[in-house]
Amino acid sequence: MIELKDITRIYSLNSQPVHALKNINLKIHKGEFVAIMGTSGSGKSTMMNILGCLDRPTSGVYLLNEIEVQHFDEDELASVRNRQIGFVFQQFNLLSRMSAFDNVMLPLVYAGVPHEARIEKAESYLRLVGLGDRMRHLPTQLSGGEQQRVSIARALVNDPTIVLADEPTGALDSHTSAEIMTLICELHDRGITIILVTHDPEVASYARRVVRLKDGEILSDEKNSSRL
Ligand SMILES: Nc1ncnc2c1ncn2[C@@H]1O[C@H](COP(=O)(O)OP(=O)(O)OP(=O)(O)O)[C@@H](O)[C@H]1O
Ligand SMILES: [Mg+2]
Repeated sequence: MIELKDITRIYSLNSQPVHALKNINLKIHKGEFVAIMGTSGSGKSTMMNILGCLDRPTSGVYLLNEIEVQHFDEDELASVRNRQIGFVFQQFNLLSRMSAFDNVMLPLVYAGVPHEARIEKAESYLRLVGLGDRMRHLPTQLSGGEQQRVSIARALVNDPTIVLADEPTGALDSHTSAEIMTLICELHDRGITIILVTHDPEVASYARRVVRLKDGEILSDEKNSSRL
């Protein structure tokens, strides 16, 4: 369902080229759970931005559900994102003046989902992530783990086929991190494709496949035998 063919991404910094990704070839099938690892600066976020249609490659082909999206303009990319991709970030990125419920409801407002259906969906996803009794709390009234659960509910509410998570447990302690990973595994069990960036081998151990980047290239791509 995801295929990167000879993808390069060259940033230009003070008119110097920075080769962040070099001829990346990668296939990820529907329902896979992949961890992307690699040292700082190896190109992980650059790759996630391209996979998530937040950025376009300099060259190469990106097939997302059999459609070439590398030439899509901003509006077309936004529409692909809204329909197919859920994002989870290290710093949760919740709106601080809005309750958990309103944060989860927001993507449904943008998607034009009718009022009643919106309420039902936001509530059901908050219950799914274990926050049925915290819906009216503001982000500041929630723990880090609870905030990340809200952001996961928000990522899921438009029924994406893919969830992209860049260091989703980076701001959490190890116990809370394990809880969030258990939740992410449950999403994988429901058939959602998960692609997750992490520095943490413990977090990567939940994935079924680990892709390692180095200097913008794929260093290794291995099945995680302990999870099969
Ligand atoms: N907007 C930009 N302009 C110029 N260079 C950039 C830009 N964004 C990233 N880079 C460079 O591209 C390379 C890859 O960066 P990227 O953010 O993908 O790394 P990363 O693997 O996500 O690192 P980290 O683990 O620190 O988040 C780095 O050398 C970085 O300095
Ligand atoms: Mg990064």
